[in-house]
Amino acid sequence: MADKTAPRATSNRSTTPVSETFAQYISSQWADRPDALPTPRDHAAFAAERRAKVSAMHPGKRLILPAGAAKVRSNDTDYAYRAHSAFSHLTGWGSDSVPGSVLVLEPTADGHVATLYFREPAGRDSDEFYANPEIGEFWIGARPSLAHVAADLGLATAGLADFSAVLDAVDADTLVVRDADRDITDQVDGRRLLTADSESLENDGDTELARDLSELRLVKDAFEIAEMRAAVDATRLGFDDVIGDLAEITAHSRGERLVEGTFNRRARAEGNTVGYDTIAASGPHACILHWTRNDGPVVPGDLILIDAGIELDSYYTADITRTLPVNGAFTEVQRRVYEAVREAADAAFAIVKPGIKFREIHAAAMKVIAAKTAEWGFLPVSAEESLEPDQQYHRRYMVHGTSHHLGIDVHDCAAARRELYLEGVLEPGMVFTIEPGLYFQPDDLSVPEEYRGIGVRIEDNILVTESGAENLSAGIPRTADEVEAWLAL
Ligand code: GLY
Ligand code: MN
Ligand code: MN
Repeated sequence: MADKTAPRATSNRSTTPVSETFAQYISSQWADRPDALPTPRDHAAFAAERRAKVSAMHPGKRLILPAGAAKVRSNDTDYAYRAHSAFSHLTGWGSDSVPGSVLVLEPTADGHVATLYFREPAGRDSDEFYANPEIGEFWIGARPSLAHVAADLGLATAGLADFSAVLDAVDADTLVVRDADRDITDQVDGRRLLTADSESLENDGDTELARDLSELRLVKDAFEIAEMRAAVDATRLGFDDVIGDLAEITAHSRGERLVEGTFNRRARAEGNTVGYDTIAASGPHACILHWTRNDGPVVPGDLILIDAGIELDSYYTADITRTLPVNGAFTEVQRRVYEAVREAADAAFAIVKPGIKFREIHAAAMKVIAAKTAEWGFLPVSAEESLEPDQQYHRRYMVHGTSHHLGIDVHDCAAARRELYLEGVLEPGMVFTIEPGLYFQPDDLSVPEEYRGIGVRIEDNILVTESGAENLSAGIPRTADEVEAWLAL
């Protein structure tokens, strides 16, 4: 692990006094800090259950799950810190995670013992608290004590310095989450190289661990479902704010940036941040699926597609898209496209229940998209023919999939096997998006001119229930009439 005791890249401009007199003076006259230990947070018991499941899947293996270090944006400036999703899922630590922490599940005769290693407070006898811009208390704030975190998360804790003993013990039966912390992964690899046979150097075990951690998140527990509801509710407020600011937004030459800023303000106020970069795509930008440059104007008469989600302090995020007529009313052709997409979304939602395959959701939406684009005369074949796997003409207007799992990551469960994801069978507790769209590129000669430059997506967050499904975002206006009424408020 990189030594974090020294500040980086500031020696040419540091004005920190280095005299012994100063060091002694600044280390003196500090009050004791009573540390009233908290009761465990609600998340703690759920994280313990998840750890028990992972333990049962990997008996006899030492499991190392780093939170990851801060990522450099440029020079000595980092991106906002975010702990690795698997680490957060198994600890319950979200936006208040201490960077560089590591969760270790040490195998025992009948399971594992979990220990959370993190950098404990440095104390006034070191110069870290005032002289280290990267981790010092005067610079970024105080770190919690080992006892505090142990009580808060219901987990045994140890100082990060003690993690070196775990690294020393690494052997062929040690698995690591590889994409969380490169230093730790390199050290685990190096150690396994010394102790393991060549077979275990393939990292197959690490891949299986990543897969299992991803698949564990396919079905959400009660804590996660409550967080998803809260994330969707917060996101609704962000959309309301954007609508409230539309006059200012349309008056600015980079109105899309104002949309992003308004939504971000709500995201920071209600949660941790946004769960992914906000897409504020006005006019023809709506035809660019991941338009995040957001530097265009928002012009009355056009549609604006806003794809945005608030991530809570627990890291659970919503992922919602609404497409709005900027001046408050859809034109006839805009409404036709919008309602076609809405029909596709409704048709997909209508089939969701335990026991169906995930891929059937997409198929239900595509039936409508093919039917509509055929009805409008855009396809060289019938809708039925277009739906044949070797034809798919309608996909010219919607090249993306209809659904993805959602949770602690916007594209959750990314390492799950295809047979459990796209080919998987729905179970109560799964949360995913339904997000059909129609995008007619401005230079697409296959459609009449009046359609060109129109992009519509409607994206909702769906919970599978025992008997069917619940649209968690149904309260955010969806139909063309509802959207117009929303804008008229
Ligand atoms: N916001 C990215 C997506 O909808 O998948
Ligand atoms: Mn999505
Ligand atoms: Mn989205």
